[in-house]
Amino acid sequence: MQKIIPILATLASVPALAKTCNLDIDGTDQMKYSKAELTVEKGCTEVKLTLKHAGKLQKNIMGHNWVLAKAADVDGLAAEGIKAGPSKDYLPAGDKRLIANTGLVGGGEVSTVTFKTSGLKAGESYVYFCTFPGHASMMKGKLIVK
Ligand code: CO
Repeated sequence: MQKIIPILATLASVPALAKTCNLDIDGTDQMKYSKAELTVEKGCTEVKLTLKHAGKLQKNIMGHNWVLAKAADVDGLAAEGIKAGPSKDYLPAGDKRLIANTGLVGGGEVSTVTFKTSGLKAGESYVYFCTFPGHASMMKGKLIVK
């Protein structure tokens, strides 16, 4: 016991231990995400989100991405995404309302994004959605921050 106590004291004095939390979600050929909700638990300093397109359709027909924003910014971002067009993966590059986003994927493809949780607030309403034209109404979910 006497040897353990100093080690615990050392760990407790480290201000913020980096912790990457993994989240996974699929997109389908039925224009849906596999999950309606994702949760960022307390203590996660970083999130690594993996989006997998579990379908077969190509990304110019049934493309999916995972874009995180405050709920109030979703409609505006979806409109800007359509303006940005397919060459930009339907994303308005540099838009400050974008909190995090993966690339656009087609059937069988995977895209990941890692982002810090320091910009997220517990209790705020965050929504993830797909900016492929017409998809946001079906492909939308809640990111809950504990
Ligand atoms: Co989509």
